[in-house]
Amino acid sequence: MPKPHIPLDELRQQVAACHACPLADGRTQTVFGDGNPDARVLIVGEAPGKNEDLQGIPFVGKAGQNLNTLLEIAGLAREDVFIANVLKCRPPGNRDPRPEEIEVCTPFLREQTRTINPEYIVTLGNFATKFILKTEVGITRLHGTLQQAGRFKVFPIYHPAAAIYDRTKWEALENDFATLGELLRKK
Ligand code: URA
Repeated sequence: MPKPHIPLDELRQQVAACHACPLADGRTQTVFGDGNPDARVLIVGEAPGKNEDLQGIPFVGKAGQNLNTLLEIAGLAREDVFIANVLKCRPPGNRDPRPEEIEVCTPFLREQTRTINPEYIVTLGNFATKFILKTEVGITRLHGTLQQAGRFKVFPIYHPAAAIYDRTKWEALENDFATLGELLRKK
């Protein structure tokens, strides 16, 4: 018998109560995820930053402004998609997620994915892409290519924060979000 899906509200409470790793000690609050629970597209980022930790909502800082602009290029609004992260708590100083943090936190993302059951998972940057695709191939090679993970179509894209420091990435981000829009309109 397949495992029943855990309702998002219940998962949100489990995340809020989590103390499975030391990131819990430094957080203002957990950042569960936000958006349409019936979304066709689940967007997966890396981890909350300072603004996300303060507001409890993913992608509300500068990377979030970039993401909003890019979603528009795909013909999407934030209300159309569900946005979550690999980690639900902010790593100190926005350092990279550690393997042991990814290991204890990702059962939440796995359950979110089962419950939302999207058609597409858009992975932003290396951490989300490597986790969802179980690959060591980097985002530079994979971005803009349609992949499959189980029943999900996976579309890796650079992390929108990459364009804050490297404007040459912006064009690739725009192209990939335009391609995402075309894929979504095909059906
Ligand atoms: N970067 C991420 O990967 N996620 C956020 O929520 C914000 C910035």
